[in-house]
Amino acid sequence: MATITRGKIFFVGGGPGDPALMTLRGMEILKSASLVFAPGHYRDSYADALSGKEFYDPFDFHYKDLVGKIDSALEQGRPVVFLVPGDLAIFSPVQSIISRYPDAEVIPGVSALNAASAALKRTFDLPGVSHSTIATSPKTINNSPDTIGALSRHQSTLVLFMNNKTPDALAAELSEGYPPDTPVAIVSRISLPGQGIVYSTVGALSQDVDPAWFADEDAFKIIVVGKALAASEDPSWWDRRKDIRDVRLGKKQDEGQ
Ligand SMILES: C[S@@+](CC[C@H](N)C(=O)[O-])C[C@H]1O[C@@H](n2cnc3c(N)ncnc32)[C@H](O)[C@@H]1O
Repeated sequence: MATITRGKIFFVGGGPGDPALMTLRGMEILKSASLVFAPGHYRDSYADALSGKEFYDPFDFHYKDLVGKIDSALEQGRPVVFLVPGDLAIFSPVQSIISRYPDAEVIPGVSALNAASAALKRTFDLPGVSHSTIATSPKTINNSPDTIGALSRHQSTLVLFMNNKTPDALAAELSEGYPPDTPVAIVSRISLPGQGIVYSTVGALSQDVDPAWFADEDAFKIIVVGKALAASEDPSWWDRRKDIRDVRLGKKQDEGQ
């Protein structure tokens, strides 16, 4: 009797929703899979890529049943794909599944953080304005010694996933560190139908957004806070960089010497 080669499991970054934002490698692997697990919101946007495949929402299963289904597919030699929301690096619920399969391959994806930066056409750090970006979630931070208020005091760019706070409550915490005129941008449903951006400030957040929508953690949105959203970079930095490079390459004398 022919032996069956065990199948392989892939964890593929699914990006913010639009399959055009998946990596080429990720799409190639997805196309070759016969069994796919993906959170339900990918069902519509990935309909073409998922067509003809056995497809399940992993959140419909308890862990034991989920890994049982994966194990039996792998034993039958089937390639299994698990679409990871956005990218694995930030707020991914799949570590307990990845750790079970040491031979798994993980393909990076576009995080909602990257997609928000692109939608806003803003980098999150600028010389002399913000040199760090803090990614956190008002929902999960309750389980850590940090608070949004404490992180706000760093004056870094703050990127908030999974908001569950009212505008008043979030603005009060942000005000512990950020001045009232600090820009806030709320980017919702990035790359999906109905994508939108609301621009506000820490001081005006309560007036500018609908509290029910704002606190609905299932309404896909990323909240970005910080001066880097509006500050302009001094273009002389560009020329300075060129001069430093030319000195390093021996094309130019260091005028400082
Ligand atoms: C469980 S986290 C997953 C994050 C994911 N690992 C990533 O890298 O983007 C879900 C949160 O990501 C954000 N998010 C995911 N997709 C989004 C989208 N298309 N537009 C805006 N925010 C999104 C929202 O804050 C949502 O509550």
